[in-house]
Amino acid sequence: MAQERLRIGLIGAIRRAAIAKHWDNDPRATVVAAADIYDDALAEFSETYKHNDPFCTNNYHALVARDDIDAIGVFSPDNCHAEHVIAALNAGKHTFTEKPMAIQTEDCDAMLEAWKQAGTHFMVGMNMRFMDSFLALKQIMDSGEIGDIKAVWVRHFVGMGGWYYYHDYRANHEGSTGLLLQKGSHDIDMIHFLTGRYTNRVVAMGALDYYGGERPNDLRCEDCPDKDTCTDYSERPRKTMCCFRGEVDVEDHNMVMMDMGDIRATYLQCHYASHTDRNYLVIGTNGEAELSGSEITVRTQKGNKGKARTPSRFATASYNVGANEGGHGGADPRLCKAFLDLIIDGKETVATPEAGRMTVAVGCAATHSIRNGSMPLDIPPLP
Ligand SMILES: NC(=O)c1ccc[n+]([C@@H]2O[C@H](COP(=O)([O-])OP(=O)(O)OC[C@H]3O[C@@H](n4cnc5c(N)ncnc54)[C@H](O)[C@@H]3O)[C@@H](O)[C@H]2O)c1
Repeated sequence: MAQERLRIGLIGAIRRAAIAKHWDNDPRATVVAAADIYDDALAEFSETYKHNDPFCTNNYHALVARDDIDAIGVFSPDNCHAEHVIAALNAGKHTFTEKPMAIQTEDCDAMLEAWKQAGTHFMVGMNMRFMDSFLALKQIMDSGEIGDIKAVWVRHFVGMGGWYYYHDYRANHEGSTGLLLQKGSHDIDMIHFLTGRYTNRVVAMGALDYYGGERPNDLRCEDCPDKDTCTDYSERPRKTMCCFRGEVDVEDHNMVMMDMGDIRATYLQCHYASHTDRNYLVIGTNGEAELSGSEITVRTQKGNKGKARTPSRFATASYNVGANEGGHGGADPRLCKAFLDLIIDGKETVATPEAGRMTVAVGCAATHSIRNGSMPLDIPPLP
């Protein structure tokens, strides 16, 4: 007899929730319901999944209470994740939430406690753990080719910071805590994943240099006198708040140093960069590995230890890792598959709630450091 398909409901019906199609396309699962506070979002969801005759509601409590739903995917804004995940876990559902796991460390700890009580499966959407380029970089680091890893330097150029983060709730600390957490959670997590360590201590600096300003909080792009000339004009639904409004208070330029015991890392992020890239340079006792886009360059010592440390002492090899089909270089379909593998086959995932919590703890502490004279802060250990 064919196995019943896992029935999944979503909280947050559209936009990032579009990855739920990977569940619905998998013969092991089907997306049958959604909760969202916006009717137009539910209408769009309903049209996408009309083949499943989906249940739609404005009240997420009504969704998680349903006996005919086995699992919940949380795709709501960051500051709703804790409330939505805890409700889903308390209702006994397997639960997936997008990153960041929450916007406060205490909320993550409450989510871990709810998970422990529920005894169901729980996973956090850290999709970079499934990207070929980072998996290849990790393989090089783990092979010992560049010696013992001592430093990770990450430069993150966010070429469309205004477009993505300053037109809505994310531009205020109540919506996101800050962009070091919201955007940087991918990279903080990746530094943990690549090194196999968690951060003990952080110190950070940052500023709001370009966005923010004195425009009225209720100014919308469509009503703006400068809409024909503004470099950040937007027409997207619910993403037209002025990037230069007074309430904007999250840094657009962040720098954090992370102490992981025998390895130290830096993460630098700028939201008004001229281009978009992540540049990872990993330094070991026998060389370096550098990832930019899908290109990896490895430089290893050839010997001649008596001579000066000139470039001629290093052998250089370059690889192009390429990108697979599917969102984020093929990472999104793998992320969704991993959730089904976890629930249906009991296969452990690399995108664990503990890792999600440690990322949030680092992002929150680093943001606090920035806003309090760059004071060094210890990271609260996992409960
Ligand atoms: N892993 C990744 O690469 C990646 C990429 C994009 C977004 N994300 C994450 O996905 C989440 C959603 O991002 P987004 O860009 O789609 O956000 P969004 O704010 O554009 O939309 C979120 C969805 O939730 C709905 N919503 C808003 N408030 C709600 C509420 N109170 N209750 C229920 N539903 C509500 C919206 O209508 C929408 O359907 C965020 O946490 C974000 O960080 C992750």
